[in-house]
Amino acid sequence: MPNLQAHLRVPGPTPLPDAVRAAGAWQMVNHRGPEFAALMGRVLPALQRAFRTSNDLVLVGASGTGGLEAAVVNHLSPGDPVLAVTIGAFGDRFAKIARQYGADVTTLPVDWGRAAEPGAVAEAIVRMRAEGRSPVAVLMTHNETSTGVTNPIAVLAAAVRSAAPDALVVVDAISGLGAVPFDTDGWGLDVVVTGSQKSWMVPPGLTMLAVSPRAWAAQERATMPRFYFDLRAHRDAATKGSTPWTPPVSVCFQLDVALGLMEAEGYDSIFARHAACGAATRAGLAALGFRLLADPEHASNTVTAAYVPEGLDWKSFNAELRRRGLALAGGQGRLTGIVFRVGHLGYVTLDDILAALDILEEALADAGRPVDRGSSLAAAARAGSEAARGRVPDATDPVVPSPLDAGRTRA
Ligand SMILES: Cc1ncc(COP(=O)(O)O)c(C=O)c1O
Repeated sequence: MPNLQAHLRVPGPTPLPDAVRAAGAWQMVNHRGPEFAALMGRVLPALQRAFRTSNDLVLVGASGTGGLEAAVVNHLSPGDPVLAVTIGAFGDRFAKIARQYGADVTTLPVDWGRAAEPGAVAEAIVRMRAEGRSPVAVLMTHNETSTGVTNPIAVLAAAVRSAAPDALVVVDAISGLGAVPFDTDGWGLDVVVTGSQKSWMVPPGLTMLAVSPRAWAAQERATMPRFYFDLRAHRDAATKGSTPWTPPVSVCFQLDVALGLMEAEGYDSIFARHAACGAATRAGLAALGFRLLADPEHASNTVTAAYVPEGLDWKSFNAELRRRGLALAGGQGRLTGIVFRVGHLGYVTLDDILAALDILEEALADAGRPVDRGSSLAAAARAGSEAARGRVPDATDPVVPSPLDAGRTRA
């Protein structure tokens, strides 16, 4: 029986480093005691460094969607005009949460596969203002996991600030933050949400939010109902080194360990590693003849979506990949059955991408598709090495090894 999780290449949960797995087995501590307070004293500043912010960090026991819900209910009141910039299924979900709680949501939909444009965001705000509905908040997705597109949040946030200086800039950074450059304070973001099972190399269970002083002030005015997700309760508990409700203690241990690993590797190295894995995945899939969904200019370095080719039955092909130990993700929302997705975030190296491509290549050849054996690996290795160095590809370059490869196990 093969280990079906041997090559877990979905866009979260990601595989875990051994030290993070081990931390999940540690004995419990009192979450109101000194050990947990010491952990909070390490984790919150480490997250501030990762988010590049001096804003308060809040840890909440929930999946990423819980973090998005917290971002909505803490800062808005029913009837508040909101602009939701949506470039895919997760942008749609963010808009839906705000609508569900009674916000007056205007969506700015962008063709799936493309990033949002600052001019279009500014125009949408101007239109809302002309209607007397100046947005209280603008909701945006940093890295749209359903399409494999990374939005240029720096310029989008600048467009919001110039068109509606009072609007809160609220960003779903669940599947990108920690893997690609991100600058909460430099970009002037008010609320930033991420989730433990993505770039952080931690199991699901925690959502982490950065909250600006402007956002805390907005919470005092907001009237949407909230209790579990009341961020003020989380902030107050955090000042005492705890959480208001019982947290997923094991996941907190694991986050503490993972943040230590990330700082040891260094964020610039992490970004280079993800750039290499993203470029390698795109080059390898293209060499196999797959058409990619994302606009190359905004292609994500954490997840790639590729069209299922005509004549290939995705369900049975995917079952075959799983039998060979490769777990990929299918399409979401309106892309269900149309694309498949490869996750390349968190605990991932170029070798993992090459291993996944090898399985894909072999399975395609066995399915009778025209495949030039070895071609995708060569293309991926070359593109990955080049991306890691930030240069144009050159066929003579060796592949860059990663420190993460040393002594790892996948069982
Ligand atoms: C961009 C984005 N937003 C929101 C979510 C939802 O997170 P969760 O599944 O943890 O609720 C995800 C998860 O894939 C995501 O990638």
